[in-house]
Amino acid sequence: MVVTIHHDATDAGLEVLREGGNAVDAAVAVGFALAVVYPAAGNIGGGGFMLIRPATTRGIGHDRSPQPHFLDYREKAPAAASANMYLDASGNVIPKASITGAHASGVPGTVAGLTYAEAHFGRLTLAKVMAPAIRLARDGYVLSPEEAQMLHAPNLTQFPDSRRIFQRDGNFYKAGDTFKQPELAETLTRIAADPGSFYHGTLAAQIASFEAANGGLITAQDLAAYQVKERLPLIGSYRGLQIITSPPPSSGGIALIQILNILSGYDLPKLGPDRSPAQIHIITEAFRRAFMDHADYLGDPDFNTIPLNEMASPAYAAAWRSSIQPVAPTPSASLVRPAGFLPPPPKPAPPIHESPQTTHFSIVDADGNAVSSTYTLNFFFGSGVTVSPLGFVLNDEMDDFASKQGVPNAFGLIQGPANAIAPGKRPLSSMTPTMVVEPPVCPDGYIPSTPPEVQPERAVPKSCKPGKLLLVLGSPGGSTIITTVANDIISVVDNHLNIQAAADAPRFHHQYLPDVLQFEKAFPIPVIETLKASGYTTKRAAEFDEKSPGTWGDNELIEVSPKVPHGAKHGELFGGHDSGHHFGKAAGY
Ligand code: DON
Repeated sequence: MVVTIHHDATDAGLEVLREGGNAVDAAVAVGFALAVVYPAAGNIGGGGFMLIRPATTRGIGHDRSPQPHFLDYREKAPAAASANMYLDASGNVIPKASITGAHASGVPGTVAGLTYAEAHFGRLTLAKVMAPAIRLARDGYVLSPEEAQMLHAPNLTQFPDSRRIFQRDGNFYKAGDTFKQPELAETLTRIAADPGSFYHGTLAAQIASFEAANGGLITAQDLAAYQVKERLPLIGSYRGLQIITSPPPSSGGIALIQILNILSGYDLPKLGPDRSPAQIHIITEAFRRAFMDHADYLGDPDFNTIPLNEMASPAYAAAWRSSIQPVAPTPSASLVRPAGFLPPPPKPAPPIHESPQTTHFSIVDADGNAVSSTYTLNFFFGSGVTVSPLGFVLNDEMDDFASKQGVPNAFGLIQGPANAIAPGKRPLSSMTPTMVVEPPVCPDGYIPSTPPEVQPERAVPKSCKPGKLLLVLGSPGGSTIITTVANDIISVVDNHLNIQAAADAPRFHHQYLPDVLQFEKAFPIPVIETLKASGYTTKRAAEFDEKSPGTWGDNELIEVSPKVPHGAKHGELFGGHDSGHHFGKAAGY
C-alpha cells in the first residue's frame, strides 16, 4: 500500500512494488515522483527524514539487520553561513532574507537521501525506481483545479526560470492542462545515470555556478561535503506498544514521546469520546508541557548535547502530570518545569516554528516492510528559486534556524543557541515520521522491558523478532506536525477510530507559546466554546477568511490490521489519505 498527497506519485510507488520492489524502492520512486507532480513541497532541492522498518530479522534490501533505520537527509547550512547572516548592520532581522531567494537555501539532501536509501535498502536499480518520475516530468501530468491554482504562488513570479516553468510567463496553467518539465526530466535522467554527479560531478558544478551568479551561498565544496546521516530512531512506549520515531535534528520525536508519556497516566476514553472537551483539555496540557522543552534544548545533535533520556523519563512525565489541573488550563506564563530532571537550558522558554509546505508519504510492502518519510522545501515552493537550467526549486530551510536569538522571526519564532546558524549545521525540524509497532517477540517468554531510554542500542534485542507493525504515520504542518501525529496515535490507539477517520478528524494544536489553543476551521464550535469557558484562549484557523479552508497538515497514514487474509504475507492494510487535499490517493493491491 502506498499513501501520498498525489495520485500519480502513489501510482509510481505501486508500479515499483508490482515490479518486485520493496517498500524502500517504492519510497524512492515516490520521493522522486513527488518532486515532479507536487513541486510545492516534493523536491530534489530540499531535504527530509526517512524511517525504514524491516518486517523480519532478515533485514531489508542489502541490509541484514533487523533494526529500524532513520535516514537524516536534512539540509545543511553552507560553509559561508554565519550566525548573523540574516541581520542588517543595526542587528535587525532582514525581512524575508531567510525565506525568499537563493541566499535562503541550505545544501539540499534529498538526492543523497533517496539514492542512499535505494543503494542500501532497495532491491531494484535506481534507474528502475526513477523511471516513473522521469516519465512524469518528460510527458507531463494533468493538473487539477487545486494544483493549477498552486502554481500561482507569488514567490515563483519573482524568479525568471520559476516564472517561465511554473507560470508560463504569466499565461498561467489551467485545470486540465498537461504540465511538462523537460529540464527536470533531463536532470532526473542524469541523476539516475550517475547519482554522485549531484554532489561531486557536472550537476554539482552547475548548481554551484548558478548559486554564485544569483547570490546563493552553496558552493561545489558544500555539495561535496554533504552526507546523509543514519541515526538511531527514538523508541518510546505507549499503552504497551513501541513508538518508533524521529531523533534530532527533528524535534518531533522527542516531543511526541514526552506527550505520550504524560498521557499514559490517563484513561482518555473514560473522559469522553475522541475530540471531546475533556480529552482535548488533557491532551492540550500534555502538548503545552512537551513544547516548553521543545526549543530550549533542541538543535542539531552534531552541534549540541541533548538530554534525550532525561526528557523521555517516565518520572519526569509523572512530575509534569501532577501539575495538570482537572479542568482549567495552566497558563503558559505560569508553567514551571519540574526541577531536578533536566540540566539547565542554554536559554529559557522560546516558542516554536510554524511554516507552510512539506509532504509526507507512507508505504508498506507485501512482506510488511515499512517506510515513513517526510521531506520538505520548507515554505510553499521553498525559496521560489529554480536552478537554471536544471528545472528544480531550491529550499528555504535556512529559515528553520533562529536568525536572531530572542527576536521572533516572521512566524513569531524565538529560539535559543542550540538552533543558531553555523556552517555545516542542520536546522531544527518538526518533521516526525513515526511508526507504532507491537513490542518484539522473544523466545522463552522473555519480555523486553519497556524502553527505559529513548535511544537503546537496539530496538530489537538480538534473540527477538520484530513485533507486528500497526501504524505508519506522518504529516506536514511545521510545529503542528507533532500534535497531528500525537492526535493520530491517540485517535487509533485510545479511541479506536479507523485510520481514515483519524486522518480526517479536525485538528487542534497548542505549542506552549503563543498560549493559544488552535482549532481547524471545521472543528465543532460547541467544543471550542466549552474549552473557552474553562479558561482557554482559543483560535479557529482562518475564521474570517472565506477563501481559506482553515486547515493545516496532511495526514498520509497506513494501519495494519491483525487480520492476515488467506494467501497474504502480512495483515490487511488500510490507507488513510487526508481528504483535505483532493489530488492524493491511498492505494494498494
Ligand atoms: O522541518 C520543518 O519543521 C519545516 N521546514 C517543515 C515545514 C512544514 O511542515 C510546512 N508544511 N506544511
